[in-house]
Formats: sequence, C-alpha cells, structure tokens
Amino acid sequence: MSVEPDALRARIRAAIGSQTKSNINVLSSLHAVLDDMGYIPQEAIEEVADYMRATINEVWGVASFYTNFRFTPPGENVVEICWGPTCHLLGAPEILDAVQGRLGLADEGETEDNRVSLKYNTCLGACSQAPVMMVNHRLAGRISVESALRRVEGLEAGGGH
Ligand code: FES
Repeated sequence: MSVEPDALRARIRAAIGSQTKSNINVLSSLHAVLDDMGYIPQEAIEEVADYMRATINEVWGVASFYTNFRFTPPGENVVEICWGPTCHLLGAPEILDAVQGRLGLADEGETEDNRVSLKYNTCLGACSQAPVMMVNHRLAGRISVESALRRVEGLEAGGGH
C-alpha cells in the first residue's frame, strides 16, 4: 500500500477533522487515524501535534503508551486465530502451528509480502463453534487444520476480498 505523501497527509487530516465528539484530544485523534487507516503513520504524529497544538514528543508519548496502536501498515488480509480456553482445548494449538508454518511466521505479524497479518485473539465470542478463526472479519467455526489452511491459501492466491 503506497500512498503519495500529500494524499497521505490529506487523508490523515480528514480523519482527524472528522471527529464529531465534543471531547477531542490527542488520544481521540490518534484513534481517528487508526480507525481510518489501520495504523498510525509517522506523518500522523506530526499532523495530530499540529491539530492539537501539542509537541511531537507529547503526541508520541501518548501513542507509544498504548499497546494497541500499530505504526506499520497491516497486511492486506487479516487472519485471527482464537487462542481462548475453549478453542485451545478443541485444537487451536495445532491449527495455529499449521497456519504459522504456511505463512512463514513464528509469531503474530505480517508475512514478508504483506499479504497477510496474523493475530491471536483470546476469545472471538463464538465459543460454541470452537475452534474458531476470523478471516477479514468473517468468522469461521469448527475449523480443522485442513480448512484453516485452505482459507489461508485462498488469501495467498489473491482471494479474500
Ligand atoms: S474461546 Fe475461542 S471463541 Fe471463545
């Protein structure tokens, strides 16, 4: 995902300016960018500082405090594997192992070609269908190693959107 610098800044400013709540601050502005772009580019730190009349250090201090902010673009597709107790008991470890192996990852994160982001989840809220995974916000229940791999391979082949 490459975006022209001016277009990137315009998009960031639009996201910051689109906030409608009465209490707009550095944190809410960072969230607005994250919601729109899926990550917080370096330029957003500068734009939020400008908008909130804060220093870059102040904005960076807030941004780096929260572990749910990410500063690199997510993969084109997002695969979440539930690691919660029910899914764990019903086979999540084997599924996670297989999916990581297929994607060439040792942990959460992005594949080298940035086609897939892998995330763990502590409960996707569908324990009755465990084990569960989510691919681009679509839930799949009672998955097996084979069906999980099929879904992931479909993304690598260009599907998933
Ligand atoms: S533990 Fe996996 S969906 Fe709840």
